[in-house]
Amino acid sequence: MKNSDARPNRGCFEATVLTNTIVRRCYRRLNLRLDARGSAFFRDVKPGQFAELDLSSLGLPPTGAIDKPLRDAAAKKILLRRPFSFSDVHLAGDSPPAVCVEILYCVLGPSTLRMTTLKPDDVVSVIGPLGNGFSVPRGKRLAVLIAGGMGSPPLQHLAEYLRSNYPDMRVIVFAGAKTLDDFPFIVNVLDGGRCVPDEFARLGDEAYVATDDGSAGAKGLVTDCADAWLAQHAVQAEDAIVYACGPEPMLAAVASLAEKHGLDCQVSMERMMACGIGVCQSCAVETRAAAGETEYRLCCKDGPVFNAKDVCFRK
Ligand SMILES: Cc1cc2nc3c(=O)[nH]c(=O)nc-3n(C[C@H](O)[C@H](O)[C@H](O)COP(=O)(O)OP(=O)(O)OC[C@H]3O[C@@H](n4cnc5c(N)ncnc54)[C@H](O)[C@@H]3O)c2cc1C
Ligand code: FES
Repeated sequence: MKNSDARPNRGCFEATVLTNTIVRRCYRRLNLRLDARGSAFFRDVKPGQFAELDLSSLGLPPTGAIDKPLRDAAAKKILLRRPFSFSDVHLAGDSPPAVCVEILYCVLGPSTLRMTTLKPDDVVSVIGPLGNGFSVPRGKRLAVLIAGGMGSPPLQHLAEYLRSNYPDMRVIVFAGAKTLDDFPFIVNVLDGGRCVPDEFARLGDEAYVATDDGSAGAKGLVTDCADAWLAQHAVQAEDAIVYACGPEPMLAAVASLAEKHGLDCQVSMERMMACGIGVCQSCAVETRAAAGETEYRLCCKDGPVFNAKDVCFRK
């Protein structure tokens, strides 16, 4: 097939806001329904892929709704689209069915502050689906998902994807954060005091929580929790795979953990992104190349999901 005949695998679409609700503290959940053309492109979106949203024309949150420093931050001009992965992708019952995507977002700066003003029936411009998502190598029967802080959205999508497409796969989830308030989902406390992450509990066979300060779940690093679980269970290396998303030091620790247990591991990396489509070169990730050399690959185009063995994590 000539290149000119190849169907583009991404585009610029309109998405209508269905809901935009508070999850907890600074975390919100935005549900969007893609237009008919966008739905065709997003139907097979993989967990870990993302979209660039244009939030530049949105208004400011109302006076009184946010503190002055945040209001000053929100007032900054927004030049660039912003990347967001999806915590859920599903078909709505319309005819033909529309694709709905859920974005779990943390309110940090001008774009995400303005995102809080979106209300049902508002329309947002979305470019996507972008990047390469998580993949499931043949023969895997156990998936260990490790989420750090705001790293949970693409892993929530992955857990749902594995449930639907690999019903025999065992899914074990570890979610970590500095403190209870830093989880972008509700953490339920069961009888006996065990804490489970609400969003993952229905998707994983087992789900564990760890916090640095012990305010929820095990006290300590989520990677130590996963390490202990792997040490206790006789995991066959060829059966299992580790998937992770979170801050880079955590991803580096997950990569070491996977290496220690001889497991395949895929990590979703984050970089500041300007274009999201491989043009501006702003999102370089240093990776290992042949003969002990390194090369820069693009987080937006070659990632954001990389084989952990390939990444030279920042110190
Ligand atoms: C592939 C990908 C998927 C993402 N998925 C999600 C998601 O599901 N939910 C979510 O809340 N956020 C996600 N993000 C991060 C999100 O894009 C930023 O939080 C958002 O751009 C912040 O925009 P802002 O204008 O509100 O704040 P800004 O002023 O742009 O940023 C606020 C602060 O966050 C830091 N920051 C912003 N973007 C990044 C980044 N990409 N990497 C490291 N630090 C950054 C800035 O340095 C600054 O300190 C994702 C990023 C990438 C690259
Ligand atoms: S964001 Fe422009 S090349 Fe990756």
